[in-house]
Amino acid sequence: MSILFCSDSEDPAPWRDAIAQALPGMPFRVWPDAGALEDVRYALAWRPQPGALARLPNLRAVLVLGAGVDSVLSDPALPLDLPVLRLVDAGLVEPMAAYALLAVLYFQRRAGAYLRQQAHAVWQPREQLPPARWPVGVMGLGTIGRVVAQRLAANGFPVRGWSRTPKHLDGIETFAGRERLAAFLAQSRVVVSVLPLTAQTAGILDATAFAAMPEGSYLVNIGRGDHVVDGDLLAALDSGRLAGAMLDVFREEPLPAAHPFWRHPRVVVTPHVAAPTVAADAQAQVVENIRRLERGEPPTGLVDRSRGY
Ligand SMILES: NC(=O)c1ccc[n+]([C@@H]2O[C@H](COP(=O)([O-])OP(=O)(O)OC[C@H]3O[C@@H](n4cnc5c(N)ncnc54)[C@H](OP(=O)(O)O)[C@@H]3O)[C@@H](O)[C@H]2O)c1
Repeated sequence: MSILFCSDSEDPAPWRDAIAQALPGMPFRVWPDAGALEDVRYALAWRPQPGALARLPNLRAVLVLGAGVDSVLSDPALPLDLPVLRLVDAGLVEPMAAYALLAVLYFQRRAGAYLRQQAHAVWQPREQLPPARWPVGVMGLGTIGRVVAQRLAANGFPVRGWSRTPKHLDGIETFAGRERLAAFLAQSRVVVSVLPLTAQTAGILDATAFAAMPEGSYLVNIGRGDHVVDGDLLAALDSGRLAGAMLDVFREEPLPAAHPFWRHPRVVVTPHVAAPTVAADAQAQVVENIRRLERGEPPTGLVDRSRGY
């Protein structure tokens, strides 16, 4: 019985140490050096090689090393009945809420305009509307989105939220379902997306969505890059329909040097850092889930394969 680490991008060393300490009886292997494939009982995965997990005949569960599972579920070879577990919070919620607040304040306090002015030594105060006149819309009201919404509301912004199923959140106006999306977008001066990437949410931030947003509004994307139709966003920025965007996630990461987002005067790019994984929290959650599975208890973060998140 072994644990297999499957990732082309993540360092296995800290995970090897954590597993050796917490689960000393379980040999730790790193793909492609998997040892006997039939011995692998659990896979720790982040952007695994497509097809790799399907080759493990006795795999009991895939433990994804992040909150989003799109990079694992996108593997067409992944057996449909294989349990997939994701990280729930694990230290990600607070930094995501802080990033969202930073982004909204950046636009509301005109920080981009002042950075451009400073480049030319221009001393020119600009009109600044108070938070009470800056309605913010949060797309996704799950583990992260609901705290993002509450953090913005606590800072004086009128907040509305959108999710797949109806929600009740104190002080936040909520909308549910695709048929309510346009109404939700229509009054959001800033839209913050913290959705998971699924078949239903891919490309959701497109020309239709931008047309539904108020003239001169802003987009913040901390969900996944594939939510945004890049060309539609650039067109909306160039036409002035959108006044700016702060983007942390991209269709291709690292964002290619030639991508227009890098040089667009109204786009702020950050390199997928809204919430870096907190190793100790993630390791504790993964270890606890393996222990639960070994005891036959329900794990946390079980992904609904039919929903895709
Ligand atoms: N940038 C970063 O550094 C970073 C870090 C961590 C996570 N993330 C991203 O954040 C995402 C959210 O994480 P989480 O832990 O908050 O996930 P979660 O708890 O599963 O919440 C997902 C939310 O999105 C809503 N949703 C899903 N599909 C929808 C649809 N078709 N229409 C409307 N709403 C929909 C869900 O609605 P219901 O409540 O009705 O189910 C739920 O409110 C992750 O999947 C990941 O992509 C990014």
